[in-house]
Amino acid sequence: MDLSSREPAVGTLPPRARFRSSLGEQSLNSNRGEQKLNSNRGEQKLNSNRGEQKLNSNSGEQKLNGDWRFRLSPSLAAAPEGIEAEDFDDSSWDTIPVPSSWPMHGYGAPAYTNVQYPFPLDPPFVPDENPIGDHRLTFDADESLLQGAVLRFDGVDSTADVWLNGELLGTTRGSRLMNEFDVSHLLRAAGNVLVMRVAQWSASSYLEDQDMWWLPGIFRDVTVMARPAQAIRDLFVHADYADQTGTLRVDVDGDLPAEVRIDELGVVAAAGQQVKISNVIGWTAEQPKLYTAKISTELETIELKIGFRTITVADSQVLINGKPIMFRGVNRHEHHPDLGRVVPRSVVESELRLMKQHNINAIRTSHYPPHPVLLELADELGFYVIDECDLETHGFAMNQWRRNPVADPDWRPALVDRMSRTVHRDKNHPSVLIWSLGNECGTGDNLRVMAETARNIDPARLIHYEGDWSSTYVDLYSRMYAPVDEVHKIGEKTEEPLDDEAADAHRRELPFVLCEYIHAMGNGPGGMSEYQELFDRYPRLVGGFVWEWLEHGIRRRTDDGTEYFGYGGDFGEQVHDGNFVIDGLVSADREPRPGLIDLKKVYEPVAIDVDDAWRTITITNKYAFSDLDHLRWDWAAEDADGRYAAGVLTTVEVAAGQQATANLPAEIAAARRAGAVLTVTARLAKDTNWATEGHEIAWGQAGSVAATEQSVSGGSPVVHEADVLVLGPARFDATTGRLTDLAGTRIDGPRLNLWRAPTDNDNGMDWHIKRRESAGWQEVRLDQLQGRLADVAEIEDDHGHGLRVTTRYAAPSYDRHVDVITTWRSDGSRIRMQATLVPQGEWSPSWARIGLDFVLGGGYDNLAWAGQGPGQKYPDTGQAARLGYFTSSVADLQVPYVRPQENGSRWAQRLTLTGDRPLTFSSADGFAFAARPWSQQALAAAEHTVDLVADGRLHLTIDHRQLGIGTASCGPGVLPAYRLDPAQLTETDLRMELIIE
Ligand code: GAL
Repeated sequence: MDLSSREPAVGTLPPRARFRSSLGEQSLNSNRGEQKLNSNRGEQKLNSNRGEQKLNSNSGEQKLNGDWRFRLSPSLAAAPEGIEAEDFDDSSWDTIPVPSSWPMHGYGAPAYTNVQYPFPLDPPFVPDENPIGDHRLTFDADESLLQGAVLRFDGVDSTADVWLNGELLGTTRGSRLMNEFDVSHLLRAAGNVLVMRVAQWSASSYLEDQDMWWLPGIFRDVTVMARPAQAIRDLFVHADYADQTGTLRVDVDGDLPAEVRIDELGVVAAAGQQVKISNVIGWTAEQPKLYTAKISTELETIELKIGFRTITVADSQVLINGKPIMFRGVNRHEHHPDLGRVVPRSVVESELRLMKQHNINAIRTSHYPPHPVLLELADELGFYVIDECDLETHGFAMNQWRRNPVADPDWRPALVDRMSRTVHRDKNHPSVLIWSLGNECGTGDNLRVMAETARNIDPARLIHYEGDWSSTYVDLYSRMYAPVDEVHKIGEKTEEPLDDEAADAHRRELPFVLCEYIHAMGNGPGGMSEYQELFDRYPRLVGGFVWEWLEHGIRRRTDDGTEYFGYGGDFGEQVHDGNFVIDGLVSADREPRPGLIDLKKVYEPVAIDVDDAWRTITITNKYAFSDLDHLRWDWAAEDADGRYAAGVLTTVEVAAGQQATANLPAEIAAARRAGAVLTVTARLAKDTNWATEGHEIAWGQAGSVAATEQSVSGGSPVVHEADVLVLGPARFDATTGRLTDLAGTRIDGPRLNLWRAPTDNDNGMDWHIKRRESAGWQEVRLDQLQGRLADVAEIEDDHGHGLRVTTRYAAPSYDRHVDVITTWRSDGSRIRMQATLVPQGEWSPSWARIGLDFVLGGGYDNLAWAGQGPGQKYPDTGQAARLGYFTSSVADLQVPYVRPQENGSRWAQRLTLTGDRPLTFSSADGFAFAARPWSQQALAAAEHTVDLVADGRLHLTIDHRQLGIGTASCGPGVLPAYRLDPAQLTETDLRMELIIE
């Protein structure tokens, strides 16, 4: 097995089957393969590569998925010899399903690294300790395959030698690319023996350093396709669109005359003939109209879905069918919590529906060509796709990019081959708009040649690569995680110039895309709206792709069977990157995280604004093509007692890209009252293939939740009972100044809280201010504040009687402190707390919160609030939190982030803990609250969800101010407007008021 060959060694194809891969002549078992590849001749050959796309022919195919014989060896040296022989005895081997990632089936273990390679950088060689997975299958072939056939692998990680009936076919290269071998001369009706020796590490691993689990195996379908001699070798559909007219030409590479038919359009044409077709519906993500084309020769008919669309760049914008579009995108990796790289079709279908349901219209297939099913579904459901080549060499950065394959001529043929195979595999999908050369490979001339390769094959699509900011050979200026202020400048075209004037002039005219932004790791991402506002304002900003769609958790179970998701380091890896693999808008099980719910609001294709008097509505249609006929509109008014009025609005007509204001029916203004909220919702008027009629697309609100009665007079005097001070329903410990009992409920608080269990974003390094929030907190020991009662005094003034408690909070070893002066009054049934903070000394550059903690005994499992909900909200998140009246169990308030961290905060004006003795907290100014069955310290100490155990109490934190969340886990931190810098606090920041009853 030649593991060090710099690709592409594919199979031995007999001459008549040049079809599919012209690489065939490069034989795996010859060392000369490597030298050939180093020569320029390799490149020319690769450019002539045709085919390698799945043709849906009626000539037949047979899936070889199923249970295969399997044996894992720790190295090539330890692997058994002679496995390719037909009569090799594999009866003692185990069986494994194909497709599979073998570490997910108990063989070896998954391993996670982000940038760093887990083996020494010694390209193109890999360590001797290289897990080898031997696979064998005996199968009978369908009759239809015996006139000529091709064996196709959709994905093998990382490389495999393949034998059929004792003969070596060749070696696969490119884990996420298709590999095909002609087997016409070998296939027989019964007892075929297919043998694959799969190596975890190979030269290919240097090109596949994506931030994800290392998971070897035959992880996509294995198929034998009937390809008799004279079968069609390749198809290339060119289907353009302008002004309701389609221009079609289907290029067919084959020996027989071919005819193209599209019955729905009455089209009959010869292969290669260009035809103009009128009354065509163009393909867009908003209306993904597909036509079925049949391409027939006397031998076979191939069916293909065609979308007519044209992509161009004009005025620094990306145009589809002549109209500018915006990418409301996500990056999507392929991962399954139980199966690894194998993602069942049903899961892909449901996740793409989930994306559409959340107003997502674009996917970057980070960082490799996806399973072909994804593109079929993207065509059907309507997504704009950036299809990325299987290429990342990021780990070379740790060695100052020395010997980086993209800058090394020896690797050029391999890279060009990968690009060419990507384009050929996916060139007939209307959803694919853009070819991406790869991800995070630094810079190098091979990238330019890859761009040329893609452009030569397919001049009709755009080219993308982020890693070379000079952007000379690409069609988009692309960046990842650029901060809002820089994106603003790029929108205005006032960004910093490049040194090279020509390159700068070129780049300044390009459309700008954020191929990755708003890093959705753990609690967050914060600050999404600010980007969207810029995208909406500046035409040059064509949108972005959130990092990333999916968390890559791997399901594990404790001894008692409780499930949780594992991450890097949980599988005995020596080199790993911890929980950095857990970033996503949905969990590995595709459960939406709060970030996805918020993103749906941010990505709304329709903005709805209702005026304060509930008289007018302003609607902005942000679709590029659609009017609003597919939506229906309803309204509802609710107050503390629930919904009291509702109705349907007549459809509002606003053309794509336009805004209009209309009067609302008079009954709506008539329904307006104090403490009431009006919600206008746009819903799907009929079923689509991704959601049912009534699905919510967008909403807008006006009104407010009930203001609270503020006057609590100091009618009750303080009564002394031994070490207890009694004020109305409240009892205070005279030695600590803290509440111990409230109307018969045991309570301990308030305690000043300036900290939070660090989020992944708090732990991240803000790229611009070069600081980690949580490190600052740790330095001043914000999590260890100790309180000392400094003073307790009875007061009597114009407001009546009261109790004033002054507590000094400080951290061990330090003299900086905060005095909290709390004044309590009671009218006999309620109490009012007014607190003032007086900080002294230099603190960390941020506090996580200005909050008060209360701990209650058991019995409070549910609560109700008037404010914003139902989901969590922090200063720069929670765009989806709406005004209203909500109830929840305490358990449901918790967000089970894979690595536990601060979560679950809601904004309220009134909060009721609904136990036997309900307790209500209110404030006209509003506050944030978090109610948890465990302490903040326990939350911070937990490494996995299963570490969190309810302690039988309710831990309530009421926040007056909070620090935003930001996205410093990868990228910019908290924006200035959402910071909480103790040096900048105003008087209002330092005063809070709460009524408890
Ligand atoms: C980007 C990279 C992604 C991922 C992300 C952090 O730089 O392209 O693959 O690593 O950072 O989650």
